[in-house]
Amino acid sequence: MTPATTGTTTPRKRLFVKTWGCQMNVYDSARMADVLAPLGYAPAETADGADMVILNTCHIREKASEKLFSELGRLREAKRAREAEGGRMVLAVAGCVAQAEGAEITARAPHVDIVLGPQSYHRLPEMVARITRATGSVIETDFPAEQKFDHLPEVSAPQGPIAFLTIQEGCDKFCSFCVVPYTRGAEYSRPAAAVLAEAKRLVAQGAREIALLGQNVNAYHGEGPDGAAWGLGRLLRAMAEIEGLARLRYTTSHPRDMDDDLIAAHGEIPALMPFLHLPVQSGSDRVLKAMNRGHTAAEFLAVVEKLRAARPDLALSSDFIAGHPGETQEDHQATLRLIERVGFAQAFSFKYSPRPGTPAAGAPLQVPETEKDRRLHEIQALLRDQQDMFNRSRLGMRMDVLFTGSGRHAGQLAGRSPWLQPVHAEGAAALAGQVLPCEVIAIHPNSLAVRILAASSTGDPPNQEKAAA
Ligand code: 5AD
Ligand code: SF4
Repeated sequence: MTPATTGTTTPRKRLFVKTWGCQMNVYDSARMADVLAPLGYAPAETADGADMVILNTCHIREKASEKLFSELGRLREAKRAREAEGGRMVLAVAGCVAQAEGAEITARAPHVDIVLGPQSYHRLPEMVARITRATGSVIETDFPAEQKFDHLPEVSAPQGPIAFLTIQEGCDKFCSFCVVPYTRGAEYSRPAAAVLAEAKRLVAQGAREIALLGQNVNAYHGEGPDGAAWGLGRLLRAMAEIEGLARLRYTTSHPRDMDDDLIAAHGEIPALMPFLHLPVQSGSDRVLKAMNRGHTAAEFLAVVEKLRAARPDLALSSDFIAGHPGETQEDHQATLRLIERVGFAQAFSFKYSPRPGTPAAGAPLQVPETEKDRRLHEIQALLRDQQDMFNRSRLGMRMDVLFTGSGRHAGQLAGRSPWLQPVHAEGAAALAGQVLPCEVIAIHPNSLAVRILAASSTGDPPNQEKAAA
């Protein structure tokens, strides 16, 4: 490898980041790499020989801390090897497991130099500087959310034709099963002006599609340039004015925060893609109440109906939990009925897994593991059928595709449909970054094959009619 230098005389150091979990974590990993770039850290492909390793953890899935400790075991050897060759590997654990189990990590894995929660990423450079001056371990997990964004550098690394932009963090909903309100803290929205400035920068760097991110993104209430609080509908309308930005999405939403202005935005903004991830978790009012979701099945269905009235080609995704404490066979049937009523284009489903410290973990009437498995399989079979049906319904359809880069085979381009389906086509790599009119010619299990109809960029709104209809 060529020894490179940054703009100053700082020699390049190797940074390896391993990311578990959601898009928020993927985004956070990129931001951590950004804040460390001025210290001379550039991305490395592996942990071996790296000058710094960050493990960005996720607490939502099972066995998160076991996976972390086994990874830390492997890294102890890599760190020793680096020292044996006269170097130094700074080892950091970030993300939700760090937030929740900081003290245990430093006790069980003393070779970890930094443990930091999601609110403290902007302080990474300072912590690394302190470590490299050999001041010992630093624990940093209690930083107020409000300060996080203010201290991050103005310029983020280019992300390509599809870019992610965090506009909101934290959650005040306290669903019975969820760790997010404890690990990510209270809801906080970035000011609209900062969001719009970052969006413009991303577009200048080549983004054609921006996905606005937040744990509770539609609870967005950032300060507008006029001093008033802006809701997400208003922010999306302002985003849609940005020249060169063809597509907009937002994730993840809560049914309770789907207000009329936001629903109307789906009908009014052609660039807002006709695909929405809206977790419902269960179709039973009894379980929804036990989950502290703050909505009923009928209220969810009413939101879906309003959304479809505003944007008839809207397709839906959701999250489901099988076997929340107290869930009966009847409740489970209600979930299957809700899935049948709505018809999802895709969805995620999980077996309920107790997260220590959450109310549901200590609740009576835990559902036996084998029963949770059985219910999950039923939910997944139904969702899989619906997804296949949705994908098959695209055959012969004309749609605009955003091409993002080369496909798996030579001469192939990869991209995304308006409904977030992976797409591939024969075409020149130079077409990456363009939104092109296409016709769907084949449906594969995990992607659509399309033919490009015209190799010059069109702006969305896409022509989404069936060619044959
Ligand atoms: N058990 C199972 N699934 C969970 N999720 C969050 N916490 C749990 C848990 N304890 C799921 C929810 C949420 C998604 C991100 O993860 O469905 O919407
Ligand atoms: Fe967790 Fe989402 Fe519920 Fe917040 S709204 S507590 S992030 S499941």
